[in-house]
Amino acid sequence: MKLLKLPLLLLLPHLTFTISIDPQQSLYDPALASSSSSSKLLALHKSLVEIESITGHEHDVAQYLVDYLTLQGLTVETQVVGPGLDGRGKRQNLLAYIGQQRKTKVLVSSHIDTVPPFWPYKRKGEEIWGRGTVDAKGSVAAQIIAFEEVWKAGKLGKGDVALLFVVGEEVGGDGMKKANDFGLKWDTVIFGEPTELKLASGHKGISGMVITAKGKAGHSGYPELGRNAIAMLVPALNELLKAELPWSEEYGNTTLNFGTIEGGVAANVIAEEARAQVSIRIADGDPADVEKVLLDAIQKAGQELDVEFHPGYGPIYIDSDVPGFKTIVVNYGTDIPNLKGDHKRYLYGPGTILMAHSDHEHLKISDLETAVKGYKALIEHSLK
Ligand SMILES: *[C@@H]1O[C@H](CO)[C@@H](O)[C@H](O)[C@H]1NC(C)=O
Ligand SMILES: [Zn+2]
Repeated sequence: MKLLKLPLLLLLPHLTFTISIDPQQSLYDPALASSSSSSKLLALHKSLVEIESITGHEHDVAQYLVDYLTLQGLTVETQVVGPGLDGRGKRQNLLAYIGQQRKTKVLVSSHIDTVPPFWPYKRKGEEIWGRGTVDAKGSVAAQIIAFEEVWKAGKLGKGDVALLFVVGEEVGGDGMKKANDFGLKWDTVIFGEPTELKLASGHKGISGMVITAKGKAGHSGYPELGRNAIAMLVPALNELLKAELPWSEEYGNTTLNFGTIEGGVAANVIAEEARAQVSIRIADGDPADVEKVLLDAIQKAGQELDVEFHPGYGPIYIDSDVPGFKTIVVNYGTDIPNLKGDHKRYLYGPGTILMAHSDHEHLKISDLETAVKGYKALIEHSLK
């Protein structure tokens, strides 16, 4: 217990008293929540979206959240993940909790970076447009307001729930990987990403592949004197199109995306080098199984090629056992596999991934408001 002198003492010096409160129980200041919670939600969401935070530029939005959450009476720890890009301040994660109890039963988490380019905040009737409105600042704002409302209702105490906001989700997840250094474990982690207000029951795995062909340059009039790298690469890609990749009832087909293909220097020069980058969305098995199928397919082309795989992961099972929620399977990757531990995990948030990353990213205000209710239900369910 800690003794706190109230400012009242200064105003009424003849009434000398102290009030003893447990700062770990509840420091929620109702005065700060005097505006209706919907306008507080919209204002927070607006502030977050207005601050550009493309991966590498997360410093300012993290600092905004540190100030905001501190003002709500939470303890906020920051964790440096790396230097900012383009001369920005350091990139940092933040962990917020009640009092001094950083170890909590439940963690509520999302990411504060966005993909490029930046699109400014714009309110259009009942819609909010702008980069990050959906992915994932809609989740971040709704999670914070949900936390505040459950706290204000007297249903949160020390050791119950912490908030974690990380950088770098859109590029490799270095923020969430670093968050493992907090050295904490939770019973349940609630992740925020656009799931159309449904509980995701799983998402596909992911892997990546780079195929490189090295040939021999020469005059295009004498192909027999050189070796065309593009002509070596293309048959391999053709075999990949025909490959029988693993599938499952739950996650559908494993799919390939030929994302880039490059090679050669001029139409009349035998291409010396060619390369393709392929992303793989895995619906069944682990990456090694899929890699074997892909290598076998490439081999059928009978070309001498260099194949390199990025480290990946298989499909991710997600808990979805909360009554009252519809479920959905999503095809995108998340930070879920980057956070170690055997916690229960939920994935939920407003908006659809089909809007995220697009030039028309926008969110319905009613969805943002519904997400607050959803996160409250998930928090309360997880604390039961
Ligand atoms: C999976 O692939 C098969 C064969 O190409 C196709 O018929 C089927 O529609 C695909 N399933 C889904 C869910 O896309
Ligand atoms: Zn996201």
